[in-house]
Amino acid sequence: MLRTHTCGDLRQEHVGQTVTLSGWVQRTRDKGALLYLDLRDRYGITQVVFEQGVEAEQLREQARELGREFVVSVTGRVAERYSKNANLPTGDVEIRPETLTVLNPAKLPPFLIEDETDGGDEARMKYRYLDLRRNPVRRNLELRHRLAQSVRRYLDGQGFLEVETPVLIKSTPEGARDFVVPSRMNPGQFYALPQSPQTFKQLLMVSGFDRYFQIVKCFRDEDLRADRQPEFTQIDCEMAFVEQEDILQTFEGLTRQLFIEVKGFDPGEFPRMTYADAMRRYGSDKPDTRFAMEFVELNEVAQGQGFPVFDNAELVVGINANTCASFTRKQLDELTDFVKRPQVGATGLVYARVEPDGTVKSSVDKFYAQEVLQQWKEAFGANPGDLLLILAGPADKTRKALNELRLEMGQRLGLRNKEDFRPLWVLDFPLLEYNEEDGRHYAMHHPFTSPKPEDVPLLDTKPGEVRANAYDLVINGTEIGGGSIRIHDRGVQARMFELLGFSPEEAEAQFGFLLNAFEYGAPPHGGIAFGFDRLCSMFGGADSIRDFIAFPKNNSGRDVMIDSPSEISAAQLKELSIDTKVEAGK
Ligand code: AMO
Repeated sequence: MLRTHTCGDLRQEHVGQTVTLSGWVQRTRDKGALLYLDLRDRYGITQVVFEQGVEAEQLREQARELGREFVVSVTGRVAERYSKNANLPTGDVEIRPETLTVLNPAKLPPFLIEDETDGGDEARMKYRYLDLRRNPVRRNLELRHRLAQSVRRYLDGQGFLEVETPVLIKSTPEGARDFVVPSRMNPGQFYALPQSPQTFKQLLMVSGFDRYFQIVKCFRDEDLRADRQPEFTQIDCEMAFVEQEDILQTFEGLTRQLFIEVKGFDPGEFPRMTYADAMRRYGSDKPDTRFAMEFVELNEVAQGQGFPVFDNAELVVGINANTCASFTRKQLDELTDFVKRPQVGATGLVYARVEPDGTVKSSVDKFYAQEVLQQWKEAFGANPGDLLLILAGPADKTRKALNELRLEMGQRLGLRNKEDFRPLWVLDFPLLEYNEEDGRHYAMHHPFTSPKPEDVPLLDTKPGEVRANAYDLVINGTEIGGGSIRIHDRGVQARMFELLGFSPEEAEAQFGFLLNAFEYGAPPHGGIAFGFDRLCSMFGGADSIRDFIAFPKNNSGRDVMIDSPSEISAAQLKELSIDTKVEAGK
């Protein structure tokens, strides 16, 4: 038998028993009379002690030869420790070995297999199987597992059926580029990997499945960030005969169960906010509501006083950074540099301090009398010690920049505690987004999202103002999930494709299957998909989703462990009818 117990099992009650443990050598410590071996597996660490003594000398000799990460099996008696280790669940006991077997020696690992490792990113990714031996990384995947089980329990309990949808499909326009796979049997033709199972889950509703879910891989060839991977996992769900309220209730229920079961607390009912309010109050469709610092619009009190930057701006808007009046000139310069960064895009920053006596001192004092500055103070509800930070310019751009500044201030002031969770539903997204560059509308969520019935008349006149039955679940400023009530009427769907610039022929060629299905009794339906990796990293208190994925890609979309993507042989290319000859100079 290779083991009777795991390295995390043994306690005081096992003292006197003979056991066999197997695992990896965490470390050995030779203290002369006593030689210690820490044996590790997924479940914990158990100390093995080799004592001096004639009979034991051979065993000690064997133990001295062990290197880090050797795989060994030890049989011995469980004994009570002289000095107990309260930090270790197995810290009351140790093993006095009788036999030691090396199951497999190991090369010296390229970095320390410890909670705090000396391994850089590149090495950890190249030897990901070693990185996964480390407690923090393993714990992340354990958390992922617990979340997945909890999701399945909840959805199963609510009558959802888990159905698998295909991975080799045809491209569906959802905003990102597709990954494509050449078809050997159909020369010159390609499958696309799904960006999401959107159309399939809608077809399952037409089929009468009523409630579907799938924890499913999705693929998007887009620029990568901390919260984006080219292949990622969704908890994908769809329901028939529902309205928006039914979906919000069902998935608020799911999210609350996850918080209760996995984090041990109930976040209570989720607040709701319209997209329009979120943009006005926070300049973002995914506001971080762990802290207030809401936008205050100042056009009325800041314009018409001769300060051209404000007078010529579409919007003058600011935030009150409570208690920051003591910021030094250097700190304020840093903030000015921050807002001027191209990613933030503001042209400058105006600030005003509220002094202990209530007077306001601003960086634009020469344009504004104290009475006017007092009006600013009032607009912000500011008190002595507060710092007002103000931006001006085109409305959308300025709101976007102030959102970045607000988040930065929240960070600096320690208001974005990772263990404080503030879920929020953002509702009533616009149906369409206008793209200046190519002069056409795009679906803000996806082309299958239904307009709000009361806004349908606007489709012909002011399509940009039509609101959608679409919603996002936002937690702490991260978009965790999004969904919508779908179009289930062929005519409306065809009109939508037309608005998005598809000719009837193109719509038929790309989505004929869905349009046809809508003619065979499609029930009203809607759904949502959660970004499962994001949910895991949020629950784990991390910013990057990479450490919650067993084998992630790096920022260039590479798996450096298996060295992929890679070239394929000329024979394979030929078989796939792919001609890679590139003309010189092109
Ligand atoms: P959407 O495109 O909003 O909706 O995706 C749903 C959620 O998936 C997560 N997500 C990602 N996570 C990691 N890496 C990525 N590259 C990535 N892209 C998206 C986000 C997002 O909220 N079919 C619709 C859902 C529906 O309408 O039911 C869809 O895919 O957390």
